Amino acid sequence: MEPAAKSGLARGLIARFLLIGVSIILLRFIYVVTISGGSCASGEFCFFSSSPEVISLPGSGGITRGAAYVRFPDGSAVSPGLHHRWTSREGRKAVDFYSAVFQELVVEGFLSPTAKALCVEPLDGREVLALKEIGVADAVGIAKKKSPPLVIAGDIFHQPFGNYTFDFVFAGCIFDLTRRPATLTDEIVRVLKPEGFVVLLTVSAGDLYSLHSLEDMFSCCKKVRSKEIESPDSPKLLREMVFQKEEAIHNLHHNEEETGKPYSSSVSSLLNKCFTSEHKLQLLRSAEPLIQDEPLKPWITLKENIKHIKYLPSMADISFKERYIYIDVGARSYGSSIGSWFRKRYPKQNKTFEIYAIEADQAFHGEYMTKKGVNLLPFAAWVRNESLSFVVNHEPDKKNEKGRGMGRIRPPAAFSVAISSGDMHTIQGFDFAEWLKSTVTEKDFVVMKMDVEGTEFELVPRLFDTGALCLIDELFLECHYNRWQRCCPGKRSPKYQKTYRQCIDLFSSLRQSGVLVHQWW
Ligand SMILES: *[C@@H]1O[C@H](CO)[C@@H](O)[C@H](O)[C@H]1NC(C)=O
Ligand SMILES: *[C@@H]1O[C@H](CO)[C@@H](O)[C@H](O)[C@H]1NC(C)=O
Ligand SMILES: *[C@@H]1O[C@H](CO)[C@@H](O)[C@H](O)[C@H]1NC(C)=O
Repeated sequence: MEPAAKSGLARGLIARFLLIGVSIILLRFIYVVTISGGSCASGEFCFFSSSPEVISLPGSGGITRGAAYVRFPDGSAVSPGLHHRWTSREGRKAVDFYSAVFQELVVEGFLSPTAKALCVEPLDGREVLALKEIGVADAVGIAKKKSPPLVIAGDIFHQPFGNYTFDFVFAGCIFDLTRRPATLTDEIVRVLKPEGFVVLLTVSAGDLYSLHSLEDMFSCCKKVRSKEIESPDSPKLLREMVFQKEEAIHNLHHNEEETGKPYSSSVSSLLNKCFTSEHKLQLLRSAEPLIQDEPLKPWITLKENIKHIKYLPSMADISFKERYIYIDVGARSYGSSIGSWFRKRYPKQNKTFEIYAIEADQAFHGEYMTKKGVNLLPFAAWVRNESLSFVVNHEPDKKNEKGRGMGRIRPPAAFSVAISSGDMHTIQGFDFAEWLKSTVTEKDFVVMKMDVEGTEFELVPRLFDTGALCLIDELFLECHYNRWQRCCPGKRSPKYQKTYRQCIDLFSSLRQSGVLVHQWW
């Protein structure tokens, strides 16, 4: 019995030695006044812990934070109101939760008691208090609302700290609340020292897609840990992520660099990575199947198909993207798809989308002037910059009952083809793939609708070749082929030469490459 008790005691001591960093700081910086020996006069900066408690640490005994007043070294006072918030049952529970999180980070070497630490948008300074309680003396918070002395007021997107200021930055659940997670990430990384650690908690990142977006946002850094932990106040699990800033970061404003660099150096290895990402393949496994057999009544089948479409935001959490962008290639009138479908029906998870309408036909340009939030590119999406002849077809067409024409692009070589109906205009075509690469990055969420009257057979291969395809998260593609006509049973449309099989091949090749493409009407 006795030796066993002794060895138990010895183990306890060893456990305490393991926590030596914490203990030293506790001794050094926390002024402990025993209940018999001191008093906590109102207005004095102290924190009363009502009952002895033990914070358990995995595999390392525990720290007893006994019946004691805890006092911080920096001298400034906490208002009685705040004091109350922390000593309330709920406040205490929250502080204890963060203490346990931080102590584990200390044990694992991500947080040192001597670290200069920052908490971003801590509620009432709870996280900062927890840091100080476990002995990280040099801790401060920044939030919209100040809560002295632990939290200063400031803009979290423009923090009043120099580059490379902190060893450790903690972001509680702010990433779930902000609309600009990527901008916040850049700012956090800016104030972080090289090799410093960022720790964040989030209720998102529950699926592969958002986890991947989050990791993309932290491209500055190395992911050192990702795990789920229990939340103090909800049954939902929290994800705790730890990133370490890599030493040689020259440019945190990665937009130009990141899109320029990998594409030019090695398009193929990038494509490989992009095409085999598990988060994309997972979505594709849940997507609606392609309609393999040519529909005999395409005007019905393809329109009906919209009911079966599995939109990406209905399958995955699209948080953690820098910008949300919708590109309508061949936009035609505002009401034809931007107004009637994208704005009304596409599930957006409350995100605000920037909209680009690409439409070469002048007939439609006027109305875009009055549409707020829509950027019109009055050109034709093409595979290089050049003038094109453009046929405005005014034949009545079932697809476009509003009586507006639709454009078919013809490259210069096709000039000689006799045009029997419709007026021919010269328009400016632009290199769509290059434009895409200079306009969006992998950190953006990009939805695209493409209805380009047959030009898809040129544009899509170009998107493959340039790697621009990897920038598209979700694609709604209308493929034009010699379909059966409603007017004239047994007759195929003479407008297009491609067959349904060629369309299916195009869709299949996109899906095989990880692109969530839908057959559009
Ligand atoms: C701080 O970092 C930002 C972003 O990385 C950079 O643009 C800025 O020039 C840096 N400022 C100083 C003073 O080095
Ligand atoms: C969108 O916002 C509304 C109100 O702000 C909220 O009730 C709803 O749950 C949000 N939806 C999503 C998907 O976040
Ligand atoms: C095409 O035109 C755009 C816009 O004028 C320009 O920025 C781009 O450099 C051009 N690309 C080529 C390959 O000439």
